[in-house]
Amino acid sequence: MEQHNAYDWWQRPDLCYQGGALHFSGRSVQSLAEQFGTPSFVYSGQRIQTNLQRIKQALNDAGLGERHTLYYAMKANRFAPLLTMLKQSGLCGIDACSPNEVEHAVGCGFEAKQISFTATSLSRQDFSTLARYSGLFMDCDSIHAIRAWGKLKPGSEIGIRVNPAMGIGRACNAKLHYAGCDTTKFGIYREQFDEALATTKQYGLRVTKIHFHTGCGYLTPELEQWEQVIKSCLWFVDRAGEIERVNVGGGLGVPHLAEDQPLDLDRWAAVLQRQLGSRDLHIEIEPGDYIVKDAGLLLLGKSFVERKQQTTFVGVDAGFNIAPEPAYYDLPFQPVPLHWDNEPCSAHHVVGNINEALDVWYQNAMLPDLSGEDHLALINAGAYSSSMASNHCMRGQFKEFLLL
Ligand SMILES: Cc1ncc(COP(=O)(O)O)c(C=O)c1O
Repeated sequence: MEQHNAYDWWQRPDLCYQGGALHFSGRSVQSLAEQFGTPSFVYSGQRIQTNLQRIKQALNDAGLGERHTLYYAMKANRFAPLLTMLKQSGLCGIDACSPNEVEHAVGCGFEAKQISFTATSLSRQDFSTLARYSGLFMDCDSIHAIRAWGKLKPGSEIGIRVNPAMGIGRACNAKLHYAGCDTTKFGIYREQFDEALATTKQYGLRVTKIHFHTGCGYLTPELEQWEQVIKSCLWFVDRAGEIERVNVGGGLGVPHLAEDQPLDLDRWAAVLQRQLGSRDLHIEIEPGDYIVKDAGLLLLGKSFVERKQQTTFVGVDAGFNIAPEPAYYDLPFQPVPLHWDNEPCSAHHVVGNINEALDVWYQNAMLPDLSGEDHLALINAGAYSSSMASNHCMRGQFKEFLLL
C-alpha cells in the first residue's frame, strides 16, 4: 500500500509535521484544535500575503510590474479580519459580485474605487444599491446590465464581461467551466457584441475594459488552453476600440491531489506577456482560490472509527454543508492527522454528520491508526468553504480564526 505520497505532496515549511506533530503557521495544530474547539477554520495571514506576493513577483519578472492590478475575489472567503488584513497590506483591491459583498468590503476598510464589480442576474434593486457607491467599477455581463447601468449612470465608464465560447478548468472538470461547449449565462458572446456596443452608445457609456473569467482551478497542464482563451478575447478588445484595461479573471488553481502539477506562475505570467505585453493595456487579475485556499485548514473532531463491510469509516463533527467544494465540484480536501511519524497508513472513508449520501469528505484517505486521536484536519479549506456554508440539517455552526 502506497502511503508516503499522501503526506509528501502538501507539506511545506509553514504546514508540516515537526517531531511528529502537525504545525501550521508556526503553531501546533493540536493546540489550536484544543483551544478553539471544532469545527473551526484557521487561516494563515502570512500564507495569504505570500500567495499574493508570489503572483506579483511572477508578473514583475515577466516585465508587467507596473502594468497590473490584483483584485482579491472575496467570494472565495469574506471573513472580515482577513479582508481588513488585505486592505492594510495594500497588495490588492477587491473583486465583488453582489451589493452585499460591496457593502461588506467597504465595511472592512476598502474604498469603492478599489472594488471591481462583476456580477450576474442583477435586479433593479441591486443596481440602485450599487449606484450609491461612487467610484465602483462596473463590468456588465449582459445587454440587460448595460441598459440598467446606463440609465442610472449615463456617460460613465464601464467594462464588458465577454464570453469567448471557450473555457478552462482544473483537469477538464466541466463543473468548473464558465464558458465552453454549453452556452452559459456569463458574459456577452461575439454574436451579441455589436448590439452590446450599440447599447452603450445609447447611454453615452465609455467601454474601457474587457473582462473575462472562463473557469476555475486551472494548473500548469491547462496553460495552453488559457493562452487560447486570451487570444480569442483579443477579438473583443479590437472590436470595442478604446480599451484601456483587460481583466483576465481568476481561476488560478492549487493542487488537490498528489498527482496535480502545481501552477507554474512564471509560465502563467509569460502567457500574459506574450499575448498582452505588446499592447498598451493595463492587466487586471482577480484570483480567489489561489490566494486563500491553501492558507486554510478545517479542524474537525473525530466522532468514531468503524468498519462497515470492507470499508473503514471515520466520522467527524462537520459535514459538506460547511465546506461544499468536495461534494459539489469533486475537489477533495485531503484529511490529515494531527500526529504522524511515518507510521503505516490504511484506507479510510472520512465522512461528515449530515444525512445525505454525498456527505463524504474523502474516500480512501491514507490515515494511521486514529485510536489515540481526537481530531483531524482538512487541508485546502480556505476558499469556497465558509463563504458557501449553509445551515443544512441545522448543522451550520463553525468558528473562524485568522492567525497573524
Ligand atoms: C468573475 C469572477 N472573477 C473571479 C473569480 C474567482 O475565481 P477563483 O477563485 O477561481 O480564482 C470568480 C469565481 O467564480 C468569478 O466568477
